[in-house]
Amino acid sequence: MKEIKRYTVTAALPYVNGPKHIGHLAGAYLPADIYARYLRLQKRDVVFICGSDELGTAITMQALKEKVTPRELVDKYHVLSKECFSKLGISFDIYYRTTEKLHFETAQNFFLDFYKKGLFEERISEQYYDEETKNFLADRYIQGTCPNCSSERAFGDQCESCGKSLDPTDLINPISVVTGNKPVFRETKNWYFKLGDYENWLKEWLVDGKKGQWKANTYGQAKSWIDAGLQARSMTRDGDWGVPVPLDNAKGKILYVWFDAPIGYISATKQWALDNKKNWEPYWKSQDTKLVHFVGKDNIVFHCIIFPIMLKASGDYILPEDVPANEFLNLEGQKMSTSRRWSLEMFEYLEALPDKVDELRYALISNLPENKDADFSWKDYQLKVNSELVAIIGNLVNRIFVLTHKFYDGKVPQASDCSELKEFILERKDKVASAIENYSFREALVEVFLLARHGNKILTEKEPWKVVKNDPKEAGIVLYDCFQIIANFAILIEPFLPKTARILWDKLNMTGEMSWERIGETNLVPAGQEVQESFYLFSKMEDEVIQKQIDYLYQKTHKDMPEEAQVEVKENLISFDDFSKMEIKIGTILAAERVEGTDKLMKLSVDLGSEVRTIVSGIAHVFSVDEVVNKRVQVLANLAPRKIKGIESKGMILFADHGEGLAFVSPVGDVPNGAGVK
Ligand code: 2FM
Ligand code: ZN
Repeated sequence: MKEIKRYTVTAALPYVNGPKHIGHLAGAYLPADIYARYLRLQKRDVVFICGSDELGTAITMQALKEKVTPRELVDKYHVLSKECFSKLGISFDIYYRTTEKLHFETAQNFFLDFYKKGLFEERISEQYYDEETKNFLADRYIQGTCPNCSSERAFGDQCESCGKSLDPTDLINPISVVTGNKPVFRETKNWYFKLGDYENWLKEWLVDGKKGQWKANTYGQAKSWIDAGLQARSMTRDGDWGVPVPLDNAKGKILYVWFDAPIGYISATKQWALDNKKNWEPYWKSQDTKLVHFVGKDNIVFHCIIFPIMLKASGDYILPEDVPANEFLNLEGQKMSTSRRWSLEMFEYLEALPDKVDELRYALISNLPENKDADFSWKDYQLKVNSELVAIIGNLVNRIFVLTHKFYDGKVPQASDCSELKEFILERKDKVASAIENYSFREALVEVFLLARHGNKILTEKEPWKVVKNDPKEAGIVLYDCFQIIANFAILIEPFLPKTARILWDKLNMTGEMSWERIGETNLVPAGQEVQESFYLFSKMEDEVIQKQIDYLYQKTHKDMPEEAQVEVKENLISFDDFSKMEIKIGTILAAERVEGTDKLMKLSVDLGSEVRTIVSGIAHVFSVDEVVNKRVQVLANLAPRKIKGIESKGMILFADHGEGLAFVSPVGDVPNGAGVK
């Protein structure tokens, strides 16, 4: 096995098209942070890269909806994302932006290099075009039904439901997202990357080389993409919000955002190196560097196939050693979605519970969607805080500090030889390390907590608060052991709960830095060392606080969305309020006659219980008068009246439209006229 000298750890550059929610955090940023912190504790040379993905149609679409310029949009959300990540303790070494000049140059150089190597095919092809807005409909400008999973909201470049990478022409029933128009075809020129040339290489490097090594979800998705055959893919777009294609004959063309975004990791590393007087190149070009990309499952294809091909094609870059992709985190049992307002945004959490950062980290880490989708619920969060953080580590720490102040003058008592304890700690250390290196962060956290549980077990068994009265030396030994447990716990927990680690370290008045190497020392806190006053590491989450969050979520979803915040322009969703405005009633058609001079209209008298209404309905071409009379129907009773062919129509009869005609929607059973439909 080769010796690893340094680590380049990347976390997917999030689009700045809105706030980011806790599902994003659990998907990539939190696992990546644990990994990077762990490596730093081991004093490894690591650079942890992230930043905002500021180009592409995700941005221009959202700018259009918020009625701001793309620049205004990215400036706003870049600051928000950066601040939230920092408050949540995500320890990026740089939080970059893909609108930086250095990034443009880097991405253009990649493109030119590939161009010169003949890796592109210049193709004139027919692409979807919206005649109203006069633009080509690539990526997120076009939506339709996914040919793979039948989700009706697949984008032109990818289906977010199943993760499949798509071409706009793959979509069934495509529409322009902005106008809802059916697109037409128009010719345009683009540069296609001949991915097929790398198929054999990918089979060797990934399909054979990563089998059993990469997580099953990541490997499986990448493999099925390769198995399906690699088509050439356009790496350019028509547009102006992007990196200009650096060719003379490419006016009005920009790089596809998934071409430039991963290069953003490299640009960011260059900037970090400039800022820190380092050389960026070994982090991307030395064989003794381990490159790991943390991503969510919708990014797998780009990081396992397209970007590795780009790195390979460039000639002197290293390839990712691993791409530990997570699945999705649901919220209270439903798919999280900022646009549908079913989400817990990072900023919302931080506004509501600013002092509870590690509580969130804990709840998320212990429930990461590592191998399958997971669910975050506020009740579960409460349970984890109260019965794990408070009851296990909080309680242990409080009891030890209280006893020390009560019986030992606030000083760590008498030393013991701790040999059994040492073994137990070293075992935890190994298990935590191997779980982290396997990207099993949930398991690693459980192992860390076994140490705290062990402390509680010792206390329960040995009852030093009783023993101290007759044998203060013996009781002191128990406390000494527990102090070693707490100090070792502080280091072990640092990658997961960095604030908690820091508090413990400070309260113990520890000298020197936390380091992985020190884990297993059983004289970390020496006898005689004074510790600070007793304290509560965590406090109980009360029902009211939790209920408030749950209420907020429901209220947020049900209240009317301001227009500028509506992301799914053509989604056809209505709010519950919209629905409750409709008064639908059961009725019976008493009489019917055709409206003279028309083919379709019929004048109906409908009994709605308390009144008989006149309703004009366009059904005369489908039903005869006899077929209509006495039928039970559903009526939209509060539709504003309108005059049709001189007759005032008050309401509308509802029919099922099955494509080849209409059918009555009648109540089943004995339902009186006037009954409401809800
Ligand atoms: O899914 C996203 O939010 C993308 N912006 C991730 C890009 S990752 C990398 F390639 F930059
Ligand atoms: Zn799909």
